[in-house]
Amino acid sequence: MRWSYFIVIQCLIIFIMIGIFYIHQENVIVLKKPPESISQWYKPQNKRQVWLHTMFKLRREMLAIKIYAKMQNDENLKKWVEKLNEDYYKIAEMMPEWKNKLDLVSIANIQKNIKEKRYDEITHTLDELDKSCQSCHTDFRAATATLYRAPDFSEMKIDDSITLISHMRTMSKQVNQIKIAFVDNRSEAALSTLSELEKGMNNLGDICINCHKNASKEFPNEKITQTMADLKQSLKTGSLKEQGEALGTLAVLACAECHGTHRLAYDAKKLLSNKKNWYELLKHSF
Ligand code: HEC
Ligand code: HEC
Ligand code: HEC
Repeated sequence: MRWSYFIVIQCLIIFIMIGIFYIHQENVIVLKKPPESISQWYKPQNKRQVWLHTMFKLRREMLAIKIYAKMQNDENLKKWVEKLNEDYYKIAEMMPEWKNKLDLVSIANIQKNIKEKRYDEITHTLDELDKSCQSCHTDFRAATATLYRAPDFSEMKIDDSITLISHMRTMSKQVNQIKIAFVDNRSEAALSTLSELEKGMNNLGDICINCHKNASKEFPNEKITQTMADLKQSLKTGSLKEQGEALGTLAVLACAECHGTHRLAYDAKKLLSNKKNWYELLKHSF
């Protein structure tokens, strides 16, 4: 009797879980997350981006084998297939969790075909191996790149008391204050807020240099400085349309360009790092 209760309750729980997933399937995105241990193959835990560079090697090795199979060049085939074999097995050495994702049959077949000089078959087995590459990439490539390679702005500060995000909010306010001031014919106020924004942008520029060592990537760059000068001029003498255009250009160059790269990637990184829990799903607040 007790056992039958137990089984009924188990079935009920499974049924409810399937139900929850089913009801929410339009509202949630389910992603596979790479095991956290992959971080040891990325900066800052590692000195180099070891995982990514092993991947680049694999792609090169596959191409080399394709080229030399066509040329029927046994010596080079032998050289490159050894490298491919070694690097393919490295995937499982680095990430034992992903051992079962390797296609050991295809990698052995490539070697066999090379040994037996079946050149036409080599390309075919390479394509087979590539399916195992693609299958792991479909599941994990984008999430891994976002989690472990997108620059992280969480700890960045403008100075001891100003976090990056509060600086962003201030600059956004200033951009809008400028717009409100000039549409209401208060050019003096617009000009004074613009000079505050200019200072804020110079301060922001100091954090770019940490990663963008190249002087041509300084912030604000020449184009931004020129647009700022145009905006100043049009706030003094220009029409409402010219003022609007100059401010719009400034916002694209000084804000949107960086957001297109850094904010998008950082937002995605934060989303993927978030631990979503069952409680949130159950609250049903979409
Ligand atoms: C078990 C999982 C797995 C397998 C198998 C795998 N990869 Fe990858 N690969 C990844 C992950 C994860 C990334 C994302 C790395 C990143 O962007 O930092 C990646 C990225 C890459 C990239 C960089 C892609 C780009 O466009 O930037 C190349 C090239 C690549 N893999 C080649 C290969 C080849 C060739 C094979 C098969 C011989 C292979 N990979 C097998 C997991 C795998
Ligand atoms: C934590 C490191 C880091 C910081 C800080 C940083 N960047 Fe980047 N940024 C990168 C990396 C990595 C890339 C991608 C590689 C590349 O294109 O240089 C990139 C790419 C970009 C790109 C797109 C590609 C290009 O070069 O046009 C822009 C625009 C950009 N950064 C602007 C900025 C600005 C402006 C700042 C400062 C306000 C900044 N970044 C601060 C690391 C950083
Ligand atoms: C590094 C390049 C970079 C530049 C240049 C930049 N931003 Fe940002 N911005 C970011 C990043 C990264 C975030 C996300 C910060 C976070 O969520 O912690 C962000 C977030 C914001 C936010 C959202 C703040 C919030 O409350 O969530 C606003 C508003 C904003 N930026 C306005 C601006 C304006 C206005 C400019 C131009 C004057 C600008 N940003 C220039 C990178 C940049």
